[in-house]
Amino acid sequence: MRVTFATAEFSPIASVGGLAAAAAGLVGALRRSGIDVDVLLPDYNAVADGVVDTIELDVPLWAGPATAKRVEHPVAGSIYLIDVPGIAKSHPYLQPDGNGWLDNTDRFMRFSAAVAAFIRQTSPDVVHLNDWHTAAALAMLDPLPPSVLSLHNLAHQGATGGEWLELLGPQSAHFEWWGGFNPLSGAIAVAHKVVAVSPHHATEIVSDGQGFGLEEPLRARGDALIGILNGIDTTVWDPQHGGYIEASFSATDLSGKADCRDAVVDELGLVDDDSLLAVAVTRLTDQKGIDLLLPLIELLDEIPLRLAVLGSGDRHLSDQLVAASQGSARFAFVDGYDEALSHRLIAGGDLFLMPSRFEPCGLTQMQAMRYATIPIVTPVGGLVDTVPDVDAHPRRGRGFVMADISSTALVSAVHRAVRRCSSRRLDTLRKRVMSIDWSWDAPAQQFIKIYRDISH
Ligand code: ADP
Ligand code: GLC
Repeated sequence: MRVTFATAEFSPIASVGGLAAAAAGLVGALRRSGIDVDVLLPDYNAVADGVVDTIELDVPLWAGPATAKRVEHPVAGSIYLIDVPGIAKSHPYLQPDGNGWLDNTDRFMRFSAAVAAFIRQTSPDVVHLNDWHTAAALAMLDPLPPSVLSLHNLAHQGATGGEWLELLGPQSAHFEWWGGFNPLSGAIAVAHKVVAVSPHHATEIVSDGQGFGLEEPLRARGDALIGILNGIDTTVWDPQHGGYIEASFSATDLSGKADCRDAVVDELGLVDDDSLLAVAVTRLTDQKGIDLLLPLIELLDEIPLRLAVLGSGDRHLSDQLVAASQGSARFAFVDGYDEALSHRLIAGGDLFLMPSRFEPCGLTQMQAMRYATIPIVTPVGGLVDTVPDVDAHPRRGRGFVMADISSTALVSAVHRAVRRCSSRRLDTLRKRVMSIDWSWDAPAQQFIKIYRDISH
């Protein structure tokens, strides 16, 4: 079985958020199961080294010239880097000031046209597209190949002016949305299978007001819309053998976890006392509810608790976090995207804070549990599937679920967590969350079954 897998991010070549890790994790597991996967990724940096093969892509004039350059990456494996005019930038989506590049629609429409050309020229058994950056490829194909569309984040749809509809081609009628062009609504309508990144989110997005305006087209797909929970790369997020952390630990010997905490507390210059350490690693966007932490920061002395946040994104959020951290011995903020630090922080934390306003799946709560760090989450999306509350479910609970999406609910969940995690019951909980299998093996088998079903 040969699958073309198109994505705007792929770890470790181009990472902004979970899309990169999810794409790389799934592709790795598919390849281990014998699926032949051609990965198509924008060539953001115009990589010239290590190209082992080049395919000229036959795209319409407005989209070209387009080439697919195959590289053998030491970690990511075989990848086609797609070069189209304007795609190479310092960041996949954002200008240095945090606003989107003004030509993002043009860039990803050209990328999608190149994806469509690659599919026409190589005739894969199945096409797997991810999010709006690749979705328009289906507008340009006739007949439509067996296709899967993964929905990682419906907040970004790439909707734009109706002038694009004339450029698209055979399926363009499906992509018209309130007089304009919407890559995601169109691909939702025509893909053979539409996959949300968690089962609970699949039910949310067909509910009134929770589908980012796409509730109707999603509902219209009936059983063709399903949810498959993402996995994480458990060889990278490995407390026993992973290379990133101060000391290794396991469910049978947790002692190294305290060394991880001491090391990161020292690294960030936080006060050295016995209080618990809460951490967050996140994109700084409205979605993640990081503004809800601000009232908590004021209470850190009283609780008492230490808090460390690693994040990058919106300037107004990072400015607020920088201001709150100044002169504080209990709160540290690191502005940036730093994979190594994310491991040290998550492994060193006692609690992991994730007050998301919405969360299609969320990988960081799973990464946290792998490192025996107990999550505090909102009751949304994939957080519902992955974090049952320990007080509501004493035998199978894994963390603390906030009553609603507010600072008050966050503070009260933190109080609950501090009370419980200061007792011997903490180790039982840590062992429980560490023993869950979050690997991509099971989700990959679900995708393979879908690929088989739709390609027959
Ligand atoms: P989203 O995709 O919405 O950002 P996820 O939880 O699905 O959220 O995935 C985020 C991914 O990006 C995780 O792998 C996480 O470890 C990583 N990540 C997020 N922010 C940072 C950061 N500032 N530094 C390093 N890694 C980060
Ligand atoms: C998106 C979502 C996140 C999900 C990730 C990978 O960025 O915000 O919840 O885990 O994609 O699917």
